[in-house]
Amino acid sequence: MRPYVICHMMGTLDGRIKSAHWGLKNASKYFEDQAAKIKVDAWLAGRTTMEEFSSQKPYRRRKGRFNLPKTDFVAEHRGKSFAVAIDPSGKCHWDSKSMPSEHIIEVLTEKVSTEYLDHLRSSGVSYVFGGKTALNLALVLRKLRKCFNIRRLRIDGGGHVNGSFLKAGLIDEFSLVLSPLADGRTGSPSVFEVSDDSAGRKATRFRIKSIRRIDRDFLWIRYVAVKSSK
Ligand SMILES: NC(=O)c1ccc[n+]([C@@H]2O[C@H](COP(=O)([O-])OP(=O)(O)OC[C@H]3O[C@@H](n4cnc5c(N)ncnc54)[C@H](OP(=O)(O)O)[C@@H]3O)[C@@H](O)[C@H]2O)c1
Repeated sequence: MRPYVICHMMGTLDGRIKSAHWGLKNASKYFEDQAAKIKVDAWLAGRTTMEEFSSQKPYRRRKGRFNLPKTDFVAEHRGKSFAVAIDPSGKCHWDSKSMPSEHIIEVLTEKVSTEYLDHLRSSGVSYVFGGKTALNLALVLRKLRKCFNIRRLRIDGGGHVNGSFLKAGLIDEFSLVLSPLADGRTGSPSVFEVSDDSAGRKATRFRIKSIRRIDRDFLWIRYVAVKSSK
């Protein structure tokens, strides 16, 4: 059993997602207002995006050797909402102020050091392993359901993490806030960035679930993935 997965993004007419140069006064509001209307137990982001929310300070390394096993760890938590970081090498640092209202779950590979695991444990952060050196995202989703009872998950980008879930066929819905802008920056990430895509993968087809006009020139379009019968 895995959670139902809804990918939610705000993009330009050409699918770009970096909003810093869009000249919008409140770009994140358009994203957040619609995100809040999607009922989920957790949201998830790639390491690059999650670093915008995690602590900017290096973590304090405790002295000693940490003989911690590379097995999943569920920290004590009260709330029922979660923020999940796809962070295979353990680059995000956390402190108590990082995410006051959500319990943080790090998704790691076994490449991480035991020192980093000690940092997560002492910051009250849970973690699950998704593979030795590479992540198996289907396994990760099953663990999120089993260990935290996450039934509905919103993937909030960026483009590389969205592309990874798309490639693995794990996106059930796509929710797009379409902004009335043409960005055109070559090399800037787009809504779906799929790496190592040489195996003849077909594009994923979606059908429209709903369309709403927001704030005059923006659209909020919700799509459902059409599952191919292989
Ligand atoms: N407009 C919007 O709605 C929106 C939403 C979210 C983010 N953004 C913007 O998007 C930008 C970041 O997007 P991005 O595409 O560059 O980065 P991203 O998807 O946030 O993060 C990419 C990183 O996540 C890890 N990762 C993702 N998939 C993985 C997999 N299958 N296996 C192992 N590791 C995986 C890797 O971390 P390592 O490099 O550590 O291996 C990878 O480099 C930021 O500017 C952010 O502000 C926009």
